Amino acid sequence: MSDVALESFRAELERLRAEAAAALAAARDAAAVEAARVEFAGARSGRLKALQKSLGGLAAADKPAGGRLFNEAKAAVGDLLVAAQARLGAAAEVGPPPVDVTLPGAPVALGHLHPITQTIRRVQEIMGRLGFESVDGPEVEDQWHNFEALAIPAEHPARDPLDNFYLAVARGADPLLLRSQTSTVQIRVMEARKPPLRIVSLGRVYRPDTADATHYPMFHQVEGLLVEPGTTMAHLKSVLRLFASSFLGGDVHVRFRPSFFPFTEPSVEVDMEWGGRWVEMGGAGMVDPAVLEAVGYDPREVSGFAFGLGVERIAARRYGVADIRDFYRNDVRFLRQF
Ligand code: DAH
Repeated sequence: MSDVALESFRAELERLRAEAAAALAAARDAAAVEAARVEFAGARSGRLKALQKSLGGLAAADKPAGGRLFNEAKAAVGDLLVAAQARLGAAAEVGPPPVDVTLPGAPVALGHLHPITQTIRRVQEIMGRLGFESVDGPEVEDQWHNFEALAIPAEHPARDPLDNFYLAVARGADPLLLRSQTSTVQIRVMEARKPPLRIVSLGRVYRPDTADATHYPMFHQVEGLLVEPGTTMAHLKSVLRLFASSFLGGDVHVRFRPSFFPFTEPSVEVDMEWGGRWVEMGGAGMVDPAVLEAVGYDPREVSGFAFGLGVERIAARRYGVADIRDFYRNDVRFLRQF
């Protein structure tokens, strides 16, 4: 009689183990594991607890064996619970994030070059097609390259301390300054090379002007220089006209007005007509023999022309910008238009 009771107790424990294993294998989340834990191993009304109570009904001789069977089953259910928790925890940690690879990607925000930089590149490209190599020069200059070699003598008003950014570096009578014009690069290139020469140089120049719609203490110039035997004003005008037509598009007219620059003789102001309006773009002329001599060229053997135009001016003309300060406000709503 007692044997039968022990056997049915063993069978109950087996069934409980099998059902716990099935329930935990089917558990897909922590809530399902917890529900199984309460059902099988719950401290108050779990099925293990109920079987433990029925241990008391076994014959005295069967109680040790029954207790051993119960402890085995309890440990087995405990192992199943730990394994199920570990399985779900690991899946949560290493499982792939829910990504829908068929959705369109987030667009990458691409910027673009500043309109002044775009203008500089375009001028370089057009002048390059006309055979002009693009060269650079320093923005901190000495008196020789910014003035002397360009035939601008010490007493010339262009050298006034109020019209230039001289640097507070002790160099006696030869202070350095932020260059006030790109004509400096003419001198540097001619000193370093022999003719024939065709160069353009585009870059920043500095003058202590009060900022307004057409002035800024920093702006950009394009300097052009051609030195070849037999150069004339006609070549100068042709190059400027070809440049202006390519840059602005359509038939652009170029007008020369007599003027004066220390480093050109004769000198002219350059106006361009586009869309029915004449706009002054800069200065030009034939390189003064004194400048050729200053760099060691023989003015009886070579002649040349030079020109200097304002980059902001030609950019403003092309894009219809009324106030050059807009180029430097860094307002993306303005910059995005170019
Ligand atoms: N450097 C002059 C300026 O800043 C512009 C200029 C005039 C440049 C005549 C030239 C030139 O090369 O020939 O006002």
